[in-house]
Amino acid sequence: MRIDIITVLPELLKSPFEASILKRAIDANLVEVHFHNLRDFTTDNYKTIDDYQYGGGAGMVMMIEPIDKCISSLKAERDYDEVIYMTPDGETLNQGIANQLSLKGNIIILCGHYKGVDQRVRDLFVTKEISIGDYVLSGGELGAAVLCDAIIRLIPGVLGNETSALTDSFQDNLLAPPIYTRPREYKGLKVPELLFGGNFPEIEKWREEQAYKRTKDRRPDLLDDQ
Ligand code: ADE
Repeated sequence: MRIDIITVLPELLKSPFEASILKRAIDANLVEVHFHNLRDFTTDNYKTIDDYQYGGGAGMVMMIEPIDKCISSLKAERDYDEVIYMTPDGETLNQGIANQLSLKGNIIILCGHYKGVDQRVRDLFVTKEISIGDYVLSGGELGAAVLCDAIIRLIPGVLGNETSALTDSFQDNLLAPPIYTRPREYKGLKVPELLFGGNFPEIEKWREEQAYKRTKDRRPDLLDDQ
């Protein structure tokens, strides 16, 4: 998989890809991530990427021309499955979207700033618009980092234990059950006895019940969706 991220603030984005599972995935060539600074696609001395909005109103708008130049230069090199625009008015990211995107070959992620991009960018180039939640960030970069993390950890081979992404919260529209490790007892709090018995069908059943109970208590909306 290849991810090309278009941004005005590459510095803000880079560190998540230089540590942890994302770095391992990149080092193992399971994913390529490239950053493109939008200012490199401007033609004036000031490297202008934004301007006042027509019709008046507060806030600057990202201009179409540098974005067109950047996207066109990428598309001249290879085909893309999706051009994703990070924006608070997009579809809210969830595990299903992350699963679908993890199966793609090449994607572009465009990070918005200021008031956002000229509508014609969305009309012409963007195939998917994603929000990471109902709040406004100062730019799309942190959203793009969240999206990339959610996608990349699902690529086969990225997580050590191949099955572990399948047992994450949300994979069956259920939250994950409680988990325990050593010690067996800590300050009077005991690990449920059943987990020591080695009766795996019984343990599996207990986990399913706990996952259901936790979902019902905390996120009943997930159960309604089914
Ligand atoms: N840009 C600004 N706010 C955002 C959000 N909530 N999700 C994605 N991109 C954004």
